[in-house]
Amino acid sequence: MKRTRIATVLQDSQPGEVVNVRGWVRTRRDSKQGFSFVEVYDGSGFHGIQAVVDGNVPGYEHIKEVTTGASVSIVGEVKASQGQKQRIELLAQDLKLIGKADAEHYPLQKKQHSFEFLREIAHLRPRTNTFGAIARIRNTAAAAIHEFFQERGFLYIHTPIITTSDCEGAGQMFSVTTLDLHKLAKSNSEVDFSHDFFGKHASLTVSGQLEGEIFACSVGECYTFGPTFRAENSNTTRHLAEFWMVEPEMPFYDLNDNMELAESFIKHVIGRILERRADDMQFFNERIDTTVLDTLQNIVGHDFIRLSYTEAIDILTQSGQKWDYPIEWGGALQSEHERYLTEKHFKQPVILYDYPRTLKPFYMRCNEDGKTVRAMDVLVPRVGEIIGGSQREERIDMLELRLKECGLDPATYWWYADLRRYGTVPHAGFGLGFERLIQLVTGMVNIRDCIPFHRTPKSADF
Ligand code: 4AD
Ligand code: MG
Repeated sequence: MKRTRIATVLQDSQPGEVVNVRGWVRTRRDSKQGFSFVEVYDGSGFHGIQAVVDGNVPGYEHIKEVTTGASVSIVGEVKASQGQKQRIELLAQDLKLIGKADAEHYPLQKKQHSFEFLREIAHLRPRTNTFGAIARIRNTAAAAIHEFFQERGFLYIHTPIITTSDCEGAGQMFSVTTLDLHKLAKSNSEVDFSHDFFGKHASLTVSGQLEGEIFACSVGECYTFGPTFRAENSNTTRHLAEFWMVEPEMPFYDLNDNMELAESFIKHVIGRILERRADDMQFFNERIDTTVLDTLQNIVGHDFIRLSYTEAIDILTQSGQKWDYPIEWGGALQSEHERYLTEKHFKQPVILYDYPRTLKPFYMRCNEDGKTVRAMDVLVPRVGEIIGGSQREERIDMLELRLKECGLDPATYWWYADLRRYGTVPHAGFGLGFERLIQLVTGMVNIRDCIPFHRTPKSADF
């Protein structure tokens, strides 16, 4: 018997075919006439399939145990459905109860659960409509990301997760050590990392960019796509301690080339999701955020606005809005400012560029004005910053000056500086926060629900 995923059965099978589907029971309804409707879901698409199980079907003797959450295998004949909801249903010929799910204790009852509650049962939440859909959207987004770069000849580079340099220079790194923490706790002396596994202080990476630059300056356009880690103690709806980042890096690109790539990248990925996950997207638009499809179509269908940080400050100052954080040239833009620009003022994605030098990391190229750097942030409705990037400082003297300005030791970055010593080229790149993209696409409010198992302050279960 051919085993078939439910999505394939729903889409391709013809009445009369006999198929075997396996999955978990969503619901069961018993009719007074001695047969039951069992809805089975296997995650292959948004919809489960309904099986009509007659009283004389082998296995029906266990029907009372075929409860929500139990796993079953059903062989059945495809029939045109009597109901309105679906094109087809199965007329069961055989029902096997594989794993029971005690109806009294199964945590996923039919009622709506809060997302907070579902985070506590993250091992079961992928069985819900919402989290099954998010898993499929993540998958489609990841595939579309690889497609976008592969079609353009970019190499996928696997950059290290353990590192001894801080790319963002923000000091938000998780340490990696094999030193005995109990002994360290008892001694008052300075930690001697020469006895540690790597012989020096190592951490989890905050970004694959620096290593990406090495490859961009050797084999050309490339990208990384991997997990990154930040010990930011910010309990917001947009921050994770572990998140995935996509980081392309391109030699012979300036900031404008970088902006162009970022815009077509976002449009490509969203476009593919709209095409390939229409069923899941319809659900998000109906149940999570009724504006999400409009927002996405608007993003795909229009040019992004480009304006300098300085122009943005002027707009914000003249907006007449009341801000929690005051506006001042040189100050960091807060989420309220970013969202005002993209949601209210322009109602479109905005690429802000040329940020104050004091706000941005050492690697961004300094402008002639001495005050700004060739940074760019892409801001989108509801999420705010989804991409951060820049043209890189390719001049060795400026790079060394900037490292010192940022309080970093140029000796640690000797290999990064070498790229400027030997055959330096103008180059640029950016980083897209993968979970923020998922937030944008699904309309989910909290980024913790956009990754299978979130890591945030005080939370690393599962
Ligand atoms: O702006 P960021 O810090 O830029 C970099 O890391 C550069 N090295 C990228 C590059 O040029 N190659 O981070 C890039 C993006 C942000 O725009 C945001 O979408 C996401 O990563 N991000 C986070 N996502 C979730 N949780 C966090 N704590 C995040 N911090 C950044
Ligand atoms: Mg940033």
